Amino acid sequence: MAFKSLLTSLCTAAVLLASVAAQSNNTNSTDLDDHPYIPPGPNDLRGPCPGLNTLANHGYLPRDGRNLNVSVIVDAGFNGYHMEADILGIAAKVATLTSRDPLSFTLDDIKLHGNIEHDASVSRADFITGDNVHFNETIFSVLANANPGVDFYNTTSAGQVQHTRLAQSTATNPNLTNTDKEFFIRSVESAFYLSAMGDPVTGVAPKNFVQIFFREERLPIAEGWKRSEVPINSDTLGPLFNSIAAQSNWTRGEGCHWVMLSPNDPVLRFGAMFQ
Ligand code: HEM
Ligand SMILES: *[C@@H]1O[C@H](CO)[C@@H](O)[C@H](O)[C@H]1NC(C)=O
Ligand SMILES: *[C@@H]1O[C@H](CO)[C@@H](O)[C@H](O)[C@H]1NC(C)=O
Ligand SMILES: *[C@@H]1O[C@H](CO)[C@@H](O)[C@H](O)[C@H]1NC(C)=O
Ligand SMILES: *[C@@H]1O[C@H](CO)[C@@H](O)[C@H](O)[C@H]1NC(C)=O
Ligand SMILES: *[C@@H]1O[C@H](CO)[C@@H](O)[C@H](O)[C@H]1NC(C)=O
Ligand SMILES: *[C@@H]1O[C@H](CO)[C@@H](O)[C@H](O)[C@H]1NC(C)=O
Ligand SMILES: *[C@@H]1O[C@H](CO)[C@@H](O)[C@H](O)[C@H]1NC(C)=O
Ligand SMILES: [Mg+2]
Repeated sequence: MAFKSLLTSLCTAAVLLASVAAQSNNTNSTDLDDHPYIPPGPNDLRGPCPGLNTLANHGYLPRDGRNLNVSVIVDAGFNGYHMEADILGIAAKVATLTSRDPLSFTLDDIKLHGNIEHDASVSRADFITGDNVHFNETIFSVLANANPGVDFYNTTSAGQVQHTRLAQSTATNPNLTNTDKEFFIRSVESAFYLSAMGDPVTGVAPKNFVQIFFREERLPIAEGWKRSEVPINSDTLGPLFNSIAAQSNWTRGEGCHWVMLSPNDPVLRFGAMFQ
């Protein structure tokens, strides 16, 4: 069954990350001056992903946050962060399920709980609180205060942040979903922020850059950030993922895997596929 194999792919993280070779090496040092930071206006859509919101705020993605598809996302991730299509494209493909439009989705659509969006996020509250979309400084304080005494985050601090955020959600959210699917996605996202804002090989990222990325959804170019010269792909993300995961001291929660295959809809009735 196709859906089950998608799910299995999500759960066997190490195999997935190790199996795909880098596909592109035509690095392109995009001129960032062509992509000024402009915060969203009232008609522009944003969502739960700081990485994509930032790309939209710099015009790598459409600034209105609409008409997204896999190729638009893959191009933007490459030009903005030097992220290649192997892992990025998987996220983009899963996100196509979140919209009613079969050919495109918006930054708002991807908040669909149980698709990519999950509990115990590092900068957003859990779905049950009613806002799983907007940056929340209270939630973010765990990451903001991580790795005390130094001016960088790394895979150790990222793992500890995941552990603390999961403990907070476990204590407060009776509807917490915490299977290996969520664990996989959370650990990839941690590897994403360390890689996009820091060194994708060492996983060391300046605190200042990471905090601007989350709080302002801005590339910290004025502060000295540069797009990585090393392409970010499964070869670089795999080791960071493994280190973060190992240091997050994760334990699996009750319940089964499920993936939202479509928005809740009067016709489709429900979009959840259980395993
Ligand atoms: C382009 C590079 C990307 C970067 C640097 C990035 C970074 C991140 C980070 C750090 C988070 C965690 C936020 C948190 O826990 O509070 C996140 C969450 C999320 N990302 Fe991305 N992401 C990228 C690409 C994508 C793509 C391609 C998609 C799908 C189209 C996507 C969809 C999401 C969603 C739905 C969430 C919310 C999950 C949650 O925290 O509950 N992201 N992203
Ligand atoms: C990528 O690198 C390989 C091996 O060095 C080379 O054969 C290929 O032409 C390169 N592709 C691009 C698009 O630069
Ligand atoms: C690099 O980006 C510029 C501007 O977007 C584009 O014109 C050029 O074709 C790109 N080069 C490669 C090799 O992708
Ligand atoms: C993705 O969207 C872009 C911009 O709207 C469009 O040019 C392209 O044809 C679309 N690609 C697919 C596969 O739908
Ligand atoms: C929380 O879980 C309970 C029991 O499964 C369910 O009845 C309720 O609808 C859920 N609430 C939300 C907001 O998901
Ligand atoms: C941030 O999240 C906390 C914990 O869920 C919640 O109590 C608070 O109201 C949220 N803050 C905002 C501004 O939404
Ligand atoms: C991360 O930084 C902390 C603080 O300097 C350090 O103790 C820890 O060993 C570092 N982790 C890695 C993987 O280098
Ligand atoms: C790891 O998690 C287990 C189970 O929750 C707990 O007993 C143990 O103290 C934790 N260890 C660390 C270093 O956090
Ligand atoms: Mg979330």
